[in-house]
Amino acid sequence: MKISIIGLGFVGLSFAAVLGSKNFSVLGIDNDPKKIIKIQNNEIPFYEPKLKKFLNSAQKKSLTVSDDLEFAVRSSDLIFITVSTPSLTNGEINLKFIKNVITKIGKTLKKTKNKPLIIVKSTVIPETSETVLLPLLEKFSQKSNGKGFGFLTNPEFLREGRAIDDTLNPHIIVLGGKKNNYMKKLSKFYSILYKKTTPIIITNYSNAELIKYANNSFLATKISFVNQLANICQKIPNSDVDIVATAIGIDPRIGNQFLNAGPGFGGSCLPKDLNALINFSDKIGYKNTFLNAVKTTNVQQAKKILYLLESILGNLKNKKITILGVSFKENSDDIRESVSIKLIRLLLQKNIKISAHDPKALLNIKKIFKDKITYSNTISESLHHSDCAIIMTPWNEYRDLKNSDFKGMRKKNLLDTRRLLSTKKLKLNYIAIGIGS
Ligand code: UDX
Repeated sequence: MKISIIGLGFVGLSFAAVLGSKNFSVLGIDNDPKKIIKIQNNEIPFYEPKLKKFLNSAQKKSLTVSDDLEFAVRSSDLIFITVSTPSLTNGEINLKFIKNVITKIGKTLKKTKNKPLIIVKSTVIPETSETVLLPLLEKFSQKSNGKGFGFLTNPEFLREGRAIDDTLNPHIIVLGGKKNNYMKKLSKFYSILYKKTTPIIITNYSNAELIKYANNSFLATKISFVNQLANICQKIPNSDVDIVATAIGIDPRIGNQFLNAGPGFGGSCLPKDLNALINFSDKIGYKNTFLNAVKTTNVQQAKKILYLLESILGNLKNKKITILGVSFKENSDDIRESVSIKLIRLLLQKNIKISAHDPKALLNIKKIFKDKITYSNTISESLHHSDCAIIMTPWNEYRDLKNSDFKGMRKKNLLDTRRLLSTKKLKLNYIAIGIGS
């Protein structure tokens, strides 16, 4: 069986690397020539644990990469589309990239006898597959779904920083579309790949699409909920959000994951998917007060860090602040929708000197703030002469910090948004989100 994966971002490249490492014949396609050359040279285009190892193994076995989409369509049995569907400024998703790929696939399908199964892994809002993408494919190929080609939706749930583990061992496979032979083929492919250990949900297009948005919006809801709880705890002396969250998480109806309070959620998925579902609800005439509140809570959480900082330092003018962690989560160099960026923007309006540290994401953040802030490769350099350090991302490096690491600070203030150091006896003014003082 020949497999093509169109779009080599987090989802596509991880999938290609895992399938290739398991000896599946895989062709990875991307339209960015620089990315293709990098991958061919066994370099990874972004930081993701374990990806390099799997990619190297896959390329030695059965993975090739190129920009030849037409060849992929002519020669493949399964074509997974994993291009990005980013947000427009109004929150709506931008279908430009996926429409472009679907159009090219359609044009090639018209010229070939091959009858591949086309699978949309990219996140798309309900009804997009059936009312936007499929009609495009049928128009350009002059063939019909189920006869000249197969067409299914298969949303992806992997997390950045754990992309390989999640691809090796997903918690669910969701397949949407017509229950025909193509559906049987894809279902069989996944049950062989995951040795029947992963549940497979087979449904129609719209349900499959909505499952992805419901999933991410619910995760966002849990985070906004626990962040509000953290803000309540902070007002109650000696109360600790982690103790409360751990206890409620034992209730199986609640579950213990995604209850870590912090500066708010970021990344390329949760904010985008929440916005898109709100926008979609509006469009179909349903004002979603609940999801709007989840979003507002998240926006306010970033501002809360600024208020806390003002309560610690008073006037912020000419103070030096150290930001520890700029990636949106640990084990990633991704800064998309990172709360650290929002915070730095807020701080810059107050004429503050900012020094940023991050184990992996400094190069990315330099592209945004250039010489407006300073960047340090070591934590001690970043803390030098600082008036307050703010832990934003829960990198392990920050969990190991001890008294001696803070000795170069001008004022020993630490604002820990993730409570990484709450149990350590630190000789400094320690303020943590979710812990009442
Ligand atoms: C998310 C979903 O988890 C994944 O299923 C989907 O396919 C893509 O979006 P990802 O964006 O990689 O994955 O990150 P995730 O681990 O979900 O974290 C998102 C944000 O929420 C991060 O900013 C993280 O710091 C924050 N978060 C997460 C919390 O603040 N508290 C938590 O308890 C969990």
